[in-house]
Amino acid sequence: MIETQSLSNPLREGLVESRRPQPFTMIIFGAAGDLAHRKLFPALYNLMVDHWLPHQINVIGFSRQPFDDEAFRREVEQSIRQFSRQPLDAKLFEQFVAGMHYLTANFNDREAYGRLRDLLTSLTQEQHVPGNYLFYLATPPSFYPVIAEQLGAVGLNASPNPQGWVRLIVEKPFGHDLDSAMALNGQLHQVFDETQIFRIDHYLGKETVQNILVFRFANGIFEPLWNRQYIDHVQITVAESLGIEGRGTYYDNAGALRDIVQNHMMQLLAMIAMEPPVAFEADAVRDEKVKVLRAIRPLSTRDIAMHTVRGQYDEGYIEGQKVPGFLDEPDIPSDSRTEAYVAMRLLIDNWRWAGVPFYLRTGKRLAKRATEIAIQFKKAPHRFFSQTATPDLEPNLLTLKIQPDEGIALRFGAKVPGPIVRIRTVNMDFLYGTSFADQAPEAYERLLLDAMIGDSTLFTRKDEVESAWALVDSILKGWARSKGPIPSYEAGTWGPAEADELIARDGFRWRRP
Ligand code: BG6
Repeated sequence: MIETQSLSNPLREGLVESRRPQPFTMIIFGAAGDLAHRKLFPALYNLMVDHWLPHQINVIGFSRQPFDDEAFRREVEQSIRQFSRQPLDAKLFEQFVAGMHYLTANFNDREAYGRLRDLLTSLTQEQHVPGNYLFYLATPPSFYPVIAEQLGAVGLNASPNPQGWVRLIVEKPFGHDLDSAMALNGQLHQVFDETQIFRIDHYLGKETVQNILVFRFANGIFEPLWNRQYIDHVQITVAESLGIEGRGTYYDNAGALRDIVQNHMMQLLAMIAMEPPVAFEADAVRDEKVKVLRAIRPLSTRDIAMHTVRGQYDEGYIEGQKVPGFLDEPDIPSDSRTEAYVAMRLLIDNWRWAGVPFYLRTGKRLAKRATEIAIQFKKAPHRFFSQTATPDLEPNLLTLKIQPDEGIALRFGAKVPGPIVRIRTVNMDFLYGTSFADQAPEAYERLLLDAMIGDSTLFTRKDEVESAWALVDSILKGWARSKGPIPSYEAGTWGPAEADELIARDGFRWRRP
């Protein structure tokens, strides 16, 4: 059955109204860059097309590339044509770009921030709109502190209107290790308070990631099973078939652990393992996520050697195309020790999860793109069907398919029809694509809208980001001490043999998504 609108109209209208932002101006630092083009402009445009934006929004691009307003608007048009989920409609687009302005400036140029303040003041007065400002840091991270400082210096960290608001969205990566993340938090807090800071992790904007909480806490049947008594182990996979896509300089400095584990995978882990929050509110949800991150058992040097594996891909084939090895990628030094693959086993030392291993793996140039969380349940306590009836019966498995082929599958044993008892493993599948008619918004649409209305539930809090770094930092330090060779895997396969050994030591094997 296709679900179109299950809510009665007045109720739906009420919900829609509660999520409609007040008029505001968005200021994008780094507006000439890739992120703004690929994600931010299309997200804003789609929000407008879907009637989520207020009548009046202004967007100011602030970047080093020299553009005037007109040239900036044409850039935005190009971005919508190329990357928007919904096609460009000429009439709507003219309305969309009418409020777009551009300042050519260096991020550390104090005078430019004075010009920004003047432009904001004049827009606010001309249009009789409140002084609501949404700043977006889409620049290289080294500029985050200076931009925050300059905004503070010209008084743009507070609204000129007592009822107005000022918020700051900060892109990833948030820090390079624990110390730098703490330092950045300190620098931002000199100017903005925590309620104003929205640290983005685009994974949290994905519908399927939000559905983890709905699945767990809106249904009565799963939660009683969601613990060490019934769950054998959990596997979280973020597999990419893409390589590093021209981002060699960034990637060689980051590696899979910083690029994916510290943020996206820690968020998935926290949502799968957290306790029910006291309310579906930003701090209540984030309190529970932080508790999970803090309960992850710290890894000793021996644990790092035994329970983490890093890898680099060799050349191989992806969808029939030959691709180069990691060390031959542009901007990757031939002696790089940066990991393009990570696997690890973590334990969560709390009442719910004691003794249940969580296996995480992520990598570039793996066999296919697939992000999923697989929860393997313990076997039935007593086996009264004969071994011959169940030669290949697998344990129950619940798979949350985050992307692509979004959905949820439950694996169980069923009797093969016929006069003898034979049991075979079958799947019960829910697929977003066939169950819902509505096209899912892009993650950035959801996250921008949340920041516009001031809902920080899907943004990472200071203590959350630091707890995630604490774990990752210990692994980075452990790896830095070990001088052995980095395991390799052929591009287009499922990672190094050492990762298979890691999980096999506990008697399990990685799933093939
Ligand atoms: C980004 C990483 O955060 O996430 C990229 O920097 C990665 O390396 C990307 O490819 C994956 O995101 P998605 O939404 O395509 O799964």
